[in-house]
Amino acid sequence: MPSTPKKQPTFATKRLRLRAFRADDIEAMHALYGDVDNLRYWSTPPSANLGATRRAMRWHLVYRPRQYVIWAVEESKSRKVIGMINYHHRNLREKRVDVGWLTLPQYQGKGYMTEAGRALLRHLFDDLGIHKVEALILPANKPSVALAKRLGFRKEGGPIRDRWSVGGKWHSVMLYGLITGEER
Ligand SMILES: CC(C)(COP(=O)(O)OP(=O)(O)OC[C@H]1O[C@@H](n2cnc3c(N)ncnc32)[C@H](O)[C@@H]1OP(=O)(O)O)[C@@H](O)C(=O)NCCC(=O)NCCS
Repeated sequence: MPSTPKKQPTFATKRLRLRAFRADDIEAMHALYGDVDNLRYWSTPPSANLGATRRAMRWHLVYRPRQYVIWAVEESKSRKVIGMINYHHRNLREKRVDVGWLTLPQYQGKGYMTEAGRALLRHLFDDLGIHKVEALILPANKPSVALAKRLGFRKEGGPIRDRWSVGGKWHSVMLYGLITGEER
């Protein structure tokens, strides 16, 4: 019987550890959220400085599994935070979540987020009893679309018009969906 863990779980994969963010991860968080180029397809504007990251990222340190959970993606051998993965907008009645993912540029193209994504999907389906996972992705974000498809997501709709507002500009997004049993 699926049940929501009382404490944020940690997952080990072949090359990674997915764990809760800690207050002392602030520089790693800023490397993730302060990179203007890497965040060009992100749903919120980049963080202007370390102080802004510290203020904005407080919600990263909280475990609210009925709404969202964020994991730091750590490379096991170096113990460096190389990315983050999350679920959010959990709908308890419809057993559905959205997911988000972000890798530092120097760690992209190594299959790390595919590995993290598979671990997250296992947790969502096996532990939380989620039925459907969705990802909203800008049409131009080819690496994110490729990642979603690699994990088994299918394009379901879009462009969903003016779904994101980023720094005062509206963006239309594509909807990708994955139902339990479709994961690869
Ligand atoms: C979206 C994002 C996480 C995808 O990262 P990524 O590195 O392309 O994805 P993965 O970690 O799964 O790596 C896959 C790539 O590694 C390659 N790879 C190398 N070794 C691999 C291995 N052992 N296993 C699997 N893939 C491997 C794959 O071939 C693939 O490369 P390709 O696309 O050139 O074929 C990344 O582009 C990102 O952080 N973007 C900025 C933030 C963002 O836009 N997030 C999404 C918002 S919707």
